[in-house]
Amino acid sequence: MTDLSALQDRLISDIAASPDLAALETLRVSALGKQGEVSALLKSLGAMTPEERQERGPKINGLRDAVATALAARKADLETAALDAQLKAETLDLSLPAAPRRGGSVHPTLQTMDEMIAVFAELGFAVAEGPDIEDDFHNFTALNFPPGHPAREMHDTFFLPPDEAGERKVLRTHTSPVQIRTMQTQAPPIRIVAPGRTYRKDSDQTHTPMFHQLEGLVIDRDIHMGHLKWTLETFVARFFETDGVTARFRPHHFPFTEPSAEMDIQCDRSGGELKIGQGSDWLEILGCGMVHPNVLRACGLDPDEWQGFAFGMGVDRLAMLKYGVPDLRDMFAADTRWLGHYGFSAFATPNPASGLS
Ligand code: DAH
Repeated sequence: MTDLSALQDRLISDIAASPDLAALETLRVSALGKQGEVSALLKSLGAMTPEERQERGPKINGLRDAVATALAARKADLETAALDAQLKAETLDLSLPAAPRRGGSVHPTLQTMDEMIAVFAELGFAVAEGPDIEDDFHNFTALNFPPGHPAREMHDTFFLPPDEAGERKVLRTHTSPVQIRTMQTQAPPIRIVAPGRTYRKDSDQTHTPMFHQLEGLVIDRDIHMGHLKWTLETFVARFFETDGVTARFRPHHFPFTEPSAEMDIQCDRSGGELKIGQGSDWLEILGCGMVHPNVLRACGLDPDEWQGFAFGMGVDRLAMLKYGVPDLRDMFAADTRWLGHYGFSAFATPNPASGLS
């Protein structure tokens, strides 16, 4: 007959010595499983005489209970130990210093755009937007480009493949189509600036296939060149943070304005450094003019009732001038060393009251 107390001692000491949960489970199966040693003893009760059963039954059941209790206790100990080990390995020390800043910064083009918007916002202009992918009507036709105009040709403009209707969309070559979209959807008076991306097939030190412009449009009654001149001179003085700049307007041609002009500002290039607002040189900074009557008509406005002026300037170009960037292509090379040098803190939000830059 099995020595129950010897079996119990062996099982209990094996359980206490089991190194991990897997070993403990093997032990459990070998003792209490279907074919287990203790289970076999329990089964043997059925073949006993009532007297034997009365004597052995409580002992065998006691053995089963003792083994089950020992298994549960060891299991709890092993699980606690495993959790402790995991917690130790995953220690999080909140008193350690934070990881060093990785140097994310605001691109000079976006910073400059925000500066320009801040100045125009103070002058009462709202911001308008339009799509980068334009149709011929908004990019050219409504802006009074005659059918054979060079800007429509393949070498300047990125055309998309024709759609089912045979229409070829373009990547907008300027922000001027936003003028059209604004006049089509808003009743005058209008005072907007439209910053955004523009695209032309061009690449050298001062041209990239994608660049940024800021368009301006004012439509009201009795608007004339004097309003245009004051607005743009005020913008330039505020943008370059000088008391005033001398500007000159050279006659030019744009299909969508009449008369059209390019605006130059006084500058000094001596000594290899560009200084705005002094000296005897001139720097071309934007195109502008009075909105052409055909453009007003294309947007459903009566030119005898409404007049306006418009202007367009290169944002990247102004960023280069203001922050001394020599090559436009570097602006879009996504070189983190360049961005680390020329980028701005995200907290340097342009604000005319505290200084723009
Ligand atoms: N759209 C012109 C360009 O890309 C810039 C321009 C010139 C815009 C005169 C205007 C304007 O609104 O009046 O070169």
